[in-house]
Amino acid sequence: MEKNSLNGITFYSGEQIPVELHKVRVVQKLFLNPIDERLAAIYRAGFNTFQLNTLDVFLDMLTDSGTNAMSDNQISSMLKADDAYAGSQSFYRMEAAINEVFGKKYVLPAHQGRAAENIISQAFIKKGDVIPMNYHFTTTKAHMELNGGTIFEIYTEEAIKIKSNVPFKGNIDIKKLEDLIAKYGAEKIPFIRMEASTNLIGGQPFSIANMREVRKIADKHGIIMVLDASLIGENAYFVKKREAEFKNSEIKDILLTMCDLADVVYFSSRKVSSTRGGGICTNREDLFMKMRDLVILYEGFLTYGGMSVREIEAMAVGLMETTDETVISQSPSFIEFAVNELDKKGIPVVTPSGALGCHVDAIGFLPHVPQKEYPAGALAAALFIISGCRGMERGTISSVRLENGEDLLADVELLRLAFPRRVFTLSQTKFLIDRLIWLYQNRELVGGLKFVEEPAVLRFFLGRLAPTSNWPEKLVAKFKQDFGESL
Ligand code: F0G
Repeated sequence: MEKNSLNGITFYSGEQIPVELHKVRVVQKLFLNPIDERLAAIYRAGFNTFQLNTLDVFLDMLTDSGTNAMSDNQISSMLKADDAYAGSQSFYRMEAAINEVFGKKYVLPAHQGRAAENIISQAFIKKGDVIPMNYHFTTTKAHMELNGGTIFEIYTEEAIKIKSNVPFKGNIDIKKLEDLIAKYGAEKIPFIRMEASTNLIGGQPFSIANMREVRKIADKHGIIMVLDASLIGENAYFVKKREAEFKNSEIKDILLTMCDLADVVYFSSRKVSSTRGGGICTNREDLFMKMRDLVILYEGFLTYGGMSVREIEAMAVGLMETTDETVISQSPSFIEFAVNELDKKGIPVVTPSGALGCHVDAIGFLPHVPQKEYPAGALAAALFIISGCRGMERGTISSVRLENGEDLLADVELLRLAFPRRVFTLSQTKFLIDRLIWLYQNRELVGGLKFVEEPAVLRFFLGRLAPTSNWPEKLVAKFKQDFGESL
């Protein structure tokens, strides 16, 4: 019989639903507040979902960062943490886990992913350098530019198409890479960066075949490769599912194959190992030495790097669990379910489904809202008002303002609805889908946003916006008409 579920369990009925290979043992109470309270909350938050208080949120789909559910083994490991400034046993356990999972000998701890980016950028980038990559992440770009570098995103044409059946939209375009090296010269390129499960274009993976080609070119020109491994578990899962050569491989071997192709691997442990913290690792002593003293300066001593020893213990266990297919497939299989259900209803979502979250295309959803009125931000606010579900804008608000005062319009306007690992149930997922369907049917009621307070750096975190008309009130009126005074 065919395997019918999304994670390999066979359903006799033929139904296609993901099954949890874990049970719930600790829970947190949630509240779904009345719609008038949600409307007041989004005004208080300046129409920025980062500014919401979680007491006002029902399903928190802002991010998977630091919000994945921990395992019993992770939590119990925290009890045996060895409190020490220097030489902590907890650090050595984490170092051993990194040696095993990423295959790298030298380990530098950092308090989170962007701290690792700061160290790498300061160690390797000089003014006037150019850094090629499959796609930027917000904090990556900010650190690289702060150090005088310019980033170049050399993704393939398919990468930013919303609807696609290309399995590896996170690949680097090899021809563009060669052209870039020819144009600027290898000496201007401190490293090539590849990001696993490319976050900002919809959690899209790269293939190992592509990484091998990039490596060949890097070797030809003597350029090093840096891998952002924050979402590497999911990328490995997609390699296994979508790249024929690896269909019978074990996840641990796929992880090692990817890391082996990079000289430096860094990660946000808030994502990859379902805890807090981050780190950098390499097998090259010369590269390690370039970064080592910066870690002491910015993060702390080399055996804690800004993290508590409890977090370090949980990170060691979480990293080992990243080699377990039932752990890393959980979020992608729920995302696949949501994407398929929304796609069936004609709601524009990024396909194929990827890692981290379900990504709704705000330009397709709200074609009447011009990009400079931030359709993805407006969609995030509208969804929160009508459902209490908090997503994240990943579009022009997350971009920057240029020197001429205009917004740098984003390549894609996405509303990201994150599925942190093992956090939400299928009925909660169905609630989200149901409200999105209602919103799509009433989409003409949603209008744009404008900035009223705009920070100069990473403006999406703290910026405050306002609706361009009274569209939120009209949306609430229609909701009440359809749902009564219900939630
Ligand atoms: N790289 C990638 C690919 C990320 O997704 C993130 C964080 C970072 C680096 C920075 O790591 O947050 O530990 O400092 N992504 C989070 C998100 C914030 O919501 O997608 P950090």
